[in-house]
Amino acid sequence: PSKQASVIVIFGATGDLAKRKLFPSLYNLYCKGVLAEDFAVVGVARRQLSNEEFRSNVHDAVIHTACMDKDDKHEEFSSHFFYQPFDVTKKESYQDLKGLTESLDEQFDIPHNRIFYMAMAPEFFGTIALNLDSEGLLEGDGFNRLVIEKPFGHDFQSAQKLNDEIRQVFSEEEIYRIDHYLGKEMVQNIEAIRFANSLFEPLWNNRYISNIQITSSETVGVETRGGYYEKSGALRDMVQNHMLQMVSLLAMEPPGSLTTEEIRSEKVKVLRALRAVNKDEVNDYFVRGQYKQGEANGETLPGYREENNVDEESNTETFVAAKLMIDNFRWAGVPFYIRTGKRMPTKSTNILIEFKDMPMNLYKNESGKLGPNILEVHIQPEEGITLHLNVKDTGDMRKTTPIELNFNNKQKNNMNSPEAYERLLHDVMKGDATNFARWDEVALSWQFIDPISVAWANEKEQDFPNYSAGSMGPDAADKLLEKDNLHWWSSPKE
Ligand code: BG6
Repeated sequence: PSKQASVIVIFGATGDLAKRKLFPSLYNLYCKGVLAEDFAVVGVARRQLSNEEFRSNVHDAVIHTACMDKDDKHEEFSSHFFYQPFDVTKKESYQDLKGLTESLDEQFDIPHNRIFYMAMAPEFFGTIALNLDSEGLLEGDGFNRLVIEKPFGHDFQSAQKLNDEIRQVFSEEEIYRIDHYLGKEMVQNIEAIRFANSLFEPLWNNRYISNIQITSSETVGVETRGGYYEKSGALRDMVQNHMLQMVSLLAMEPPGSLTTEEIRSEKVKVLRALRAVNKDEVNDYFVRGQYKQGEANGETLPGYREENNVDEESNTETFVAAKLMIDNFRWAGVPFYIRTGKRMPTKSTNILIEFKDMPMNLYKNESGKLGPNILEVHIQPEEGITLHLNVKDTGDMRKTTPIELNFNNKQKNNMNSPEAYERLLHDVMKGDATNFARWDEVALSWQFIDPISVAWANEKEQDFPNYSAGSMGPDAADKLLEKDNLHWWSSPKE
């Protein structure tokens, strides 16, 4: 058997995440031959299901995923799946699970390797971890790895409690905290763009960069997740994790090597250098919004307060814009603007690095200005890079015209990049934690976020809802940049 061969136990195997992301990603890995014949997946959840019923769910979840250039293997794939009804508080459940996983080791020739994937609400993570240990599921020569989905706490204190619970049993090296943005091709590409190009790295600092803008917009509302979202809001849902991860990758120092801990240590230093925003300054740095009824593509969209499981007077933010300052030698004085929200006009994530102006302008363009050089990193839906430059206007040597140099990843590979979850699952199997959040990253990002959520929770007066569904967010998000004589570049052509 391969050294990576493992039994993957999915807690919450009847849930949405398993169906939408985990099963299709595993199927892709199976098609590519990454998962050889020596793997088994055990789904556990409260519901009573037979193996056959579970396999049929798995089959349905992957039926539309095609094996590239190969015959489909839905049946063989599903035959690696097993189900066990589970009560997280009952010892017997763990004993049954132990029996099942050990028999699967034999059946599939697996060297007692275990991946425990927590695809469920976090309140039971601690109980599960302790029981896995006390019932002997972690004994044996192979590896034990714990994969944890967000939310990883709702503030620093709760995150720490959760971490303490799982750390009683699993070591830091055994814990894989998922941030699925770190599995995205172009998020991973940030390091290569920066550290493999002598063109950029010398300019990547406060002498040459004016500001950095990261926009992650979504067209969807909160769909069926009103209950979760009411307690979370955009700050906890997107900023604490995905947005701060992108900021860290953009701002980190070059690591000494590409090892997991070198990279994660450099990212942590960025979070340490993030200027703390105390409660009296929140409005100088942060803007929040909530969508009201609006229109997109001729369709009327409901306001947030009209969504299912949302309070009619909810003060939960569905949009956040912020100005982040990183107080270190490289970045002193360079604002990192971020914004993210639901019910915006497009589903896209884009990073824009705006370079400073030339010391003087020799060219007499109509506007009297030279457009800035901008490097755009397109995270999604397109994956690529655009570099905005000025060249001579054809026919007039004293005028310039803006042009774009484009790299489109999909065109180059002529196929869709693999899904984030697929990469991350593969990393867990390989034991590579580089693209997972280390505990100190999680701790520092909560410590940064907490004063803002506290200030917002205590601020009674609200002008919510304050942006129309289908718009780019509240006006205050534009003012945030106008105060600095800047503006959001939706697209530099505009
Ligand atoms: C999740 C959030 O972490 O990220 C969701 O909980 C959000 O609210 C999602 O929709 C966005 O991810 P992506 O990959 O679609 O940009």
